[in-house]
Amino acid sequence: MRKNIVAGNWKMNNDLAQTQELIADLKKQMSGEPAATIMVAPTYTNLYPAFEALKDTPVIVAAQNMHQEDNGAFTGEISAAMLKSVGVETVILGHSERRAQFNETNELLAKKVDVALENDMTVIFCFGEELEDRKADKHFDLVERQLKESLYHLPKESWKSIILAYEPVWAIGTGETASPEQAQEMHAFIRKSVADKFGSDVADGVSILYGGSCKPGNAKEIFANEDVDGGLIGGASLKAEDFLAIVNSF
Ligand code: 13P
Repeated sequence: MRKNIVAGNWKMNNDLAQTQELIADLKKQMSGEPAATIMVAPTYTNLYPAFEALKDTPVIVAAQNMHQEDNGAFTGEISAAMLKSVGVETVILGHSERRAQFNETNELLAKKVDVALENDMTVIFCFGEELEDRKADKHFDLVERQLKESLYHLPKESWKSIILAYEPVWAIGTGETASPEQAQEMHAFIRKSVADKFGSDVADGVSILYGGSCKPGNAKEIFANEDVDGGLIGGASLKAEDFLAIVNSF
């Protein structure tokens, strides 16, 4: 069955010392069995120190992106094998910031997903509509297209390595959260779409996270929804106390 997961996307924040400090705070403040699977995604330069510092804990270290080629003349890029060589087996793909600022298309993301899965990695696949899509009542169509064009070519068995993260772009970093009803409505739609294509066993097994201005004050009511299996947290994941309060909202 699907797992509850809370993942912190640290984005382009924190140098090495700050990363080590945040991890030390997390380790100090974590007590007992966590209420959900915890993941954190530091910047590339901090992945290995984070992996080393967290390897004796249940916290999983994820990357924020990777390139679709194995190696070669791709200045500035990082491959799946490179991530794996420093202990990282989970990767966030398709974040809206990468779609908007680095021109990542559904087609490119399909390739990245394939390569991550060929390398036995777990993918946190992000998608979600812009405000104008929602205003024009196109948000369901758009979200389904993002899923179809990047994930619906996969064989059924690949879905055990996929985590979905619905992040409405209008809620990211804005302080404006989707209401619990809006989150549930979209998550139920996503699960039904996956069920129609791959069967209810796959749909019931996939974790669907919500992302966008999730905080200690609103996590509980968002996570209480039937089809919301956790969160992908930006700003609030940069403070151990807030992040762990979100984890403990289950
Ligand atoms: P915020 O929680 O800062 O809105 O960011 C969400 C996000 O983009 C996580 O990937």
